[in-house]
Amino acid sequence: MSYNRFVDKVVIVTGAASGIGEDAAKSFAAESAKVVVADINEKEGQRVVDEIQAAGGEAIFIQADSGQETDNRELIQKTVDHFGKLDVMVANAGINIEAKIADLSVEDYKKVRAINLDGAFYANKFAVEQFLSQGGGGAIVNIGSIHSHVARQGLTAYATTKGGIQMLTKQVGTDYLEEGIRCNMVCPGYINTPLTETVAPEIREKLASLHPINRMGEVDEVSAAILFLASDDASFISGTDIKVDGGYTAV
Ligand SMILES: NC(=O)c1ccc[n+]([C@@H]2O[C@H](COP(=O)([O-])OP(=O)(O)OC[C@H]3O[C@@H](n4cnc5c(N)ncnc54)[C@H](O)[C@@H]3O)[C@@H](O)[C@H]2O)c1
Repeated sequence: MSYNRFVDKVVIVTGAASGIGEDAAKSFAAESAKVVVADINEKEGQRVVDEIQAAGGEAIFIQADSGQETDNRELIQKTVDHFGKLDVMVANAGINIEAKIADLSVEDYKKVRAINLDGAFYANKFAVEQFLSQGGGGAIVNIGSIHSHVARQGLTAYATTKGGIQMLTKQVGTDYLEEGIRCNMVCPGYINTPLTETVAPEIREKLASLHPINRMGEVDEVSAAILFLASDDASFISGTDIKVDGGYTAV
């Protein structure tokens, strides 16, 4: 089934040069959104923009490091300068550095926190400020993880930051409902993207088996939930999450 839910809507997707963010950006564009592909990787970000445009969609690339306050502020400003407003923020950029806490350097912890949690905070804060300046309305979709809910050995930094995003989502998702601003989270299980492709095949097989559905997920299965929560179809939904995880957290 095809939809067209984002006519005249301006959407930012951070970390949109690859994986889940790339597919979300393309899916929004396919439903007529004006899309800002935000990423640190200019070459791949521009490729995504070119592919969106080749498919008849509208998109621009803005280089922004999600871990930097200034970059996040400028991302919103440049978006508004170009498209005139902002309707949807998808805070997707994220990284993982695996180590149990005794082996995790403080430097690596701060790096993961800066991009995953501080980055989500900046994206939410500056998006809400922009929504309020426009008179209210607007939707935020944060990308959490099954590890917003459950641990796995060695995921200290990642799970800590993804857990923080859950409470950020609940807080932002309840503080501005009178202004028409909703905020929700999508929590994917293990998804086939460049982030997980680096994992050894035997570990990928083991990860797949942890999902009762007995496979890893695909990016379009995550995009379906992101676009739903960003759309008016989710008008009574805020401060919560959808787990796109093949049953991983249900057992
Ligand atoms: N792939 C999975 O199995 C999985 C599962 C659960 C959650 N997630 C989450 O989904 C999100 C996307 O993951 P993915 O698998 O698509 O990853 P990916 O590595 O394929 O893509 C991540 C993108 O983020 C960009 N990025 C990295 N650091 C950045 C920064 N500082 N500022 C801006 N952009 C930056 C990268 O350049 C890349 O384009 C992440 O938040 C990740 O934690 C992924």
